[in-house]
Amino acid sequence: MERCFPDDFLWGAATSAYQIEGSPVRHGGGPSVWDTFCTLPGRTWRGQDGYHACEHYELMDEDVKLMKEIGLRSYRFSISWPRVLPEGRGMVNHQGLDFYSRLVDRLLEAGIEPLVTLFHWDYPHELFLSGGWMNPDSPLWFRDYTATAVQALGDRVKKWITLNEPQCFVNGHGNGYHAPGLTLDAVSMVRLIHHVLLSHGRAVQAVRDAGDAETEVGFAPVGITAIPQDGTTEAREAAWRYMETIHDFEPEKLAWNNSLWMDPVLTGSYPKQYFDHYGRYLPDSFEDDLGVISEPTDFLGLNIYHGQQVDLQGNAVGEDATSRIGEPITACNWPVTPEALYWGPKYFFQRYNKPIYITENGISCRDFPDSNGVINDVQRITYTEDYLAQLARGIREGIPVKGYYHWSLMDNFEWSEGYRERFGLIYVDFKTRRRIIKESGRWYRSVISQRGAQITGKL
Ligand code: BGC
Repeated sequence: MERCFPDDFLWGAATSAYQIEGSPVRHGGGPSVWDTFCTLPGRTWRGQDGYHACEHYELMDEDVKLMKEIGLRSYRFSISWPRVLPEGRGMVNHQGLDFYSRLVDRLLEAGIEPLVTLFHWDYPHELFLSGGWMNPDSPLWFRDYTATAVQALGDRVKKWITLNEPQCFVNGHGNGYHAPGLTLDAVSMVRLIHHVLLSHGRAVQAVRDAGDAETEVGFAPVGITAIPQDGTTEAREAAWRYMETIHDFEPEKLAWNNSLWMDPVLTGSYPKQYFDHYGRYLPDSFEDDLGVISEPTDFLGLNIYHGQQVDLQGNAVGEDATSRIGEPITACNWPVTPEALYWGPKYFFQRYNKPIYITENGISCRDFPDSNGVINDVQRITYTEDYLAQLARGIREGIPVKGYYHWSLMDNFEWSEGYRERFGLIYVDFKTRRRIIKESGRWYRSVISQRGAQITGKL
């Protein structure tokens, strides 16, 4: 059978700190905006929070053993900024930094390469009280935190991600669905977005300063993907236009697009459409800042879960209720569209010409153990197999995808949805914290050991 995935392909799984570790306040760290957001009534499902989460902080050794059992080549995790710096800057919680250092050691002993995200949404509450991302100094705070992390771990960690899904955490300031739960005006959003972009650039500089010749850095936005209506050039161009366009300038939706994040970072300019609309609100320093924002990166991380069908006019198809009848959906109502893992990488590579890691892809299912304790999550296997086949299709055409990180390694605290949504390859019993590798985890193990050979058969 023809092979698609290169021998050094990084078969991985991903998590984030607040979703699995348990709150940093339990171990000498400070609160993050997620700790505080969860105290607001009605913001998370059944008022749940990540105070205990999966207790990965305590169970880290066991979790690395499970990763090894699954055969992971790489593990993507995030560092909790307020665990390392309880006030976001200044005093270091060495216990917190040591935890990550031990985790990295355990991974390397198990032959698993770490890919470390510096920021996956758990912003230090103390810095939020000083204005958070709205403060013009916030890029320097992020730079200094990055330097602390890379100085401590950079001898062993060679792959870094600055920001995870800026679209989502920035929207948490525009529509309030995520922490910190604000609904800011457009002018404030424009400033905040600029500071977030500049924070990325400053962090890239800090990684370069503290890293070495082998160190790679990139960021991981959501890859908002359109799927062409058919195989014609016209349809593809319409889908490309959809992916490039900013569809909504209202503050609550402003962050939800590709170009506002990827153009400044990867081309050094704001999209014209954005600049025409909001350029007048940018700080005077914006041109110089763009030089920092576009510091060269080594790869583009893409989080892709689904795609949007687009017609020949470049309009989204299926917005009306009737056309969605019978559509395959996941437990959290996201459409199942495997082709997103073909069209997304194809478009982003063509536009930005960077090697790609799929930093997240996965499905939430209503998993539960049977009477023998087996979690037979057939849908997760079907989903992943079909998505990976589409990824393989692109790789075969020459798109340089260097790794795939399943979201998630284990069931965890799914933000505003609490513990209702289970995305893991490993089942977590949230009462006992017992873990069980799901059937999908066993299946993934066989995919990894055969280097994806069986996936190619789906093409
Ligand atoms: C985030 C994860 C989240 C997952 C599923 C992504 O938006 O990066 O933290 O759990 O998708 O919703």
